[in-house]
Amino acid sequence: MRIGMLTSGGDCPGLNAVIRGVVRKVERVHGGTVVGFRDAWKGVLEDEWEVLDVNRCRGILPRGGTILGTSRVQPYQFPDGVEMVKAAVAQHRLDGFVVIGGDGSLGAARDLQDDGVNCIGVPKTIDNDIAATEMTFGFDTAVHICSTAIDRLHTTAEAHDRVMVVEVMGRDAGHIAVRAGLAGGATMTLIPEVPFDIGEVCDALQRRHAGMSYASIVVVAEGATPAPGTMPEPEYEVDRFGHRRLGGISQRLAEEIEGRTGIETRVTILGHVQRGGTPTAFDRVLATRYGVAAADAAADGAWGQMVALQADHIVRVPLHEATGSTKQVDLDLYDEVARPFFAS
Ligand code: F6P
Repeated sequence: MRIGMLTSGGDCPGLNAVIRGVVRKVERVHGGTVVGFRDAWKGVLEDEWEVLDVNRCRGILPRGGTILGTSRVQPYQFPDGVEMVKAAVAQHRLDGFVVIGGDGSLGAARDLQDDGVNCIGVPKTIDNDIAATEMTFGFDTAVHICSTAIDRLHTTAEAHDRVMVVEVMGRDAGHIAVRAGLAGGATMTLIPEVPFDIGEVCDALQRRHAGMSYASIVVVAEGATPAPGTMPEPEYEVDRFGHRRLGGISQRLAEEIEGRTGIETRVTILGHVQRGGTPTAFDRVLATRYGVAAADAAADGAWGQMVALQADHIVRVPLHEATGSTKQVDLDLYDEVARPFFAS
């Protein structure tokens, strides 16, 4: 068995643990070889690769980033991209690819499978918004980093009676915001799934601060939007891959809060800190399980499938089921445990 492997899209803590899991299982149990391609599909198109073996993967389990590098390059961005991928398959005598990626990369893997290139998907994103799996690796690490940051912001906010607006990642779904907000005891949490009314936000903060010394933490997901017509939205650039570069809603929000309530307000954008550094133990375990399961799926010839976590078991789901829609925050959870604390 010869497997091509690549990490694609934004990096995520646990990528190296998946790589190690795949390599160990392919080499030690299935007696096969793993060819790792550099910088996602770019390495396939430009023939940049290395053979990955157990020795090469020693020590990488706790390391953030990815030893393979990553990019947002996809074969469908080039007129002859799919043919070039097929040529690489023939040149390296590959049975297929293990593609470790988010929704965009898994969508490309699904289309390649339909076009005759064998692919198995591994769901990766700190945003935890991939359908058909209860958890993506990297999410637990991001929540941990955000809740730790919120803990720290509480004390400085208390010292000054300020509102602290904390922006976390989450472009289409507010999973990080909800979990980190709950764990960190945020005053309110704003998510992409529920457009917010700035008037309500400010009224709640004003009630809370009226006549009392208080600190407030407002967690906002980067993809959160105001209800139409309620306040100006930030303008976002689009990168050369058509990917909106989010970031900035917290600044707009803070200006509105301070302007409308008179309460001193500061902004913290956690940004890529959420994706850097060592994965939590939970993410190392999940990523390793995904890697091992992807190797087994390749050995079974279960192409066109993604490995997924369901009820603590690793299962296989068709890439067609797993892609094309976003797993959003369960609004019952939001109503049950996030909303009741709003500014109370
Ligand atoms: O998709 C995961 C994610 O972390 C998003 O939450 C975020 O908007 C995006 O990646 C940022 O990616 P980059 O700045 O690396 O292009």
